[in-house]
Amino acid sequence: MESTPALDPDLLEKVTNLAKRRGFIFQSAEIYGGFRSTYDYGPLGVNMLRNVKQAWWRSMVQLRDDIVGIDAAILGPPAVWAASGHLETFTDPLVDCRRCKERWREDKIDGVCPNCGSTEFTEPRAFNLMFKTQAGPVEGEGATAYLRPETAQGMFTNFANVLSTIRKKPPFGIAQIGKSFRNEITPQNFVFRTREFEQMEMEYFVPPAEAEQWYQYWVQVRHDWYLDLGIPREMLRLHEHAAADLSHYSKGTTDIEFAYPWGWDELEGIANRGDYDLTQHSNASGTRLEYFDQTANVRYTPYVIEPAAGATRAMMAFLLAAYHEDEVDGETRTLLRLDWRLAPYQVAILPLSKKPELEGVSREVLAKLQPFFMCDYDVTQSIGRRYRRQDEVGTPFCVTVDFGTLEDRAVTVRDRDTTEQTRVKIDDLLAELLDRANVT
Ligand code: GAP
Repeated sequence: MESTPALDPDLLEKVTNLAKRRGFIFQSAEIYGGFRSTYDYGPLGVNMLRNVKQAWWRSMVQLRDDIVGIDAAILGPPAVWAASGHLETFTDPLVDCRRCKERWREDKIDGVCPNCGSTEFTEPRAFNLMFKTQAGPVEGEGATAYLRPETAQGMFTNFANVLSTIRKKPPFGIAQIGKSFRNEITPQNFVFRTREFEQMEMEYFVPPAEAEQWYQYWVQVRHDWYLDLGIPREMLRLHEHAAADLSHYSKGTTDIEFAYPWGWDELEGIANRGDYDLTQHSNASGTRLEYFDQTANVRYTPYVIEPAAGATRAMMAFLLAAYHEDEVDGETRTLLRLDWRLAPYQVAILPLSKKPELEGVSREVLAKLQPFFMCDYDVTQSIGRRYRRQDEVGTPFCVTVDFGTLEDRAVTVRDRDTTEQTRVKIDDLLAELLDRANVT
């Protein structure tokens, strides 16, 4: 088994602090003392989270001709969750510590209360993780509804709608990004496990005989997506579940695990769900959820291969992997070595001085770049401090406008990772940055 790469023991705390201090992630309802396990994404965090989702959508939908997207409702009727198996089996084993009364997930504590060290617990009870609510205007009389605990079911319940409106045949996929909700017993580790989170899931419908081959394919493709976006290879590993540990629907599951500060843990799961979901929804709804292969003149229920990722969890992994401290000019600097596609700002425009002479040309540069890059514009503090502030939030390029610019219509481009500075003509700037970012 791979060992966990050596990590700074304070990494989680450093990244959590940076995330708050620089406007990535705030505790929700903080002015009221916070609401456990819920988080708000600030001005930089919302940019980065959108970038994570955009990178996923681009690779899963935009660059392929076999996958389409949907955006399904979060609220759903009990019938969906009865058919999917969630009402009955989407549970965690809940135990109470007999000494301090804290509640825990039995499978996460190795028989010892993390709060008081006691080994005396109540018998485990199955605790359903779905949030139940009422839909309708009269309290107590409305219809029961559930907040979805996964986006996946929207793809199964819309299978016939999608098939009849687009011309696709297996193998083809339906993708969705959106919020999911789970009443986790022990939410923990910042945004790793929260009660409200975002998922990026894709259900790939295949002829049953091809299921194993597509399962292996998606494990590889999804692993390589994280590599391509800058997670070092040694911080990722694959973990195939033993048959006894499989979810109620799964014929095989492989987790892509990440080396978190607390050890290897799940980043994304890829499952072979067989024909479980379409069969269940077919039987429960009375709507045939099958594919008719006209060429072979056969009707069959496709198998489903599902890469299921968390957008918020992936963002956390990208932040952890990007966090670095190095030394520049004898001083320690903190930097996020984020891939430019994920960075909250790709370019920062920094007029050397607040003097009005520089404002016109600086704003001209900003307007030129804004349609192509998310830009920050900062005139406060010394240029050295501004570079450090941009390094700390992962901005790959700083563009400095100085008094020379008024003479030569050139600016200085500074690279985050090497701190190298290059003089570039304003007219060539956009092409230069697109080239450096390797925009394809
Ligand atoms: N449709 C299958 C499914 O939902 P899952 O392994 O339960 O599978 C998929 O969830 C991914 O969603 C996980 O790998 C993780 O990235 C993310 N995820 C699940 N529960 C989460 C939570 N409570 N907080 C944050 N992310 C979560």
